[in-house]
Amino acid sequence: MTTDAKYVKVHPLVVRITHWVNAFAILIMVASGWRIYNADPLFPFKFPVDLTLGGWLAGALQWHFAAMWLLALNGLVYLVYGLVSGHLWRKLTPLTPAAVLRDVRNALRGKLAHDDLSVYNAAQRAAYFVAIVLLVLLIVSGLVLWKPVQFYALGLLMGDYEGVRYVHFFAMAALVLFVFVHVIMVALVPRTFPSMFTGRIRT
Ligand code: HEM
Repeated sequence: MTTDAKYVKVHPLVVRITHWVNAFAILIMVASGWRIYNADPLFPFKFPVDLTLGGWLAGALQWHFAAMWLLALNGLVYLVYGLVSGHLWRKLTPLTPAAVLRDVRNALRGKLAHDDLSVYNAAQRAAYFVAIVLLVLLIVSGLVLWKPVQFYALGLLMGDYEGVRYVHFFAMAALVLFVFVHVIMVALVPRTFPSMFTGRIRT
């Protein structure tokens, strides 16, 4: 048994806390959002009731409105910390389309190197950047759906109330896809999972 294990710090405390609060808030937002969608579907399908939260429309709206504050305030803490400390810049750049294509291709062939887990590969950087943009889009479109009169001008940018519903839906669908792939990637490289709690990884 080796006793000279070395650890490298990978995730600051603020990132770890906001990451798990975010995952919890997203779970509530998606499950209650699906119940709200079922009350007036945009497309000819409904989400399975067992995967939804709130029991009925009014109950689901209460969950959605409660968790939206958690999601928005927590996201704000992550963004302000990330911008002020340089965390976002350090972890998500450089980001070039050629590097993203190369790493996605390598990942699909099972050939992505994982020797230094303190540095995100280009596919991860792109995925995390897109997830952050999707969350901002969900919150902005959600604001218009919540207060269409007060945020009328914002709504016009997204094609009025009906357009905003589509933006909100597709941003949710893309985020759910991100989470699905994200969790599969964590399962494929399980060493990353405890690091999101402890903040460090064994080299
Ligand atoms: C239960 C579900 C989740 C699990 C198990 C999970 C796990 C992880 C782990 C282990 C990492 C670190 C990856 C690494 O060091 O290589 C990570 C990072 C990240 N995750 Fe998740 N995650 C989950 C849900 C989510 C959700 C719902 C979102 C956003 C919608 C999200 C967004 C991110 C982002 C943006 C990072 C990079 C954070 C940074 O370094 O600033 N995750 N996740």
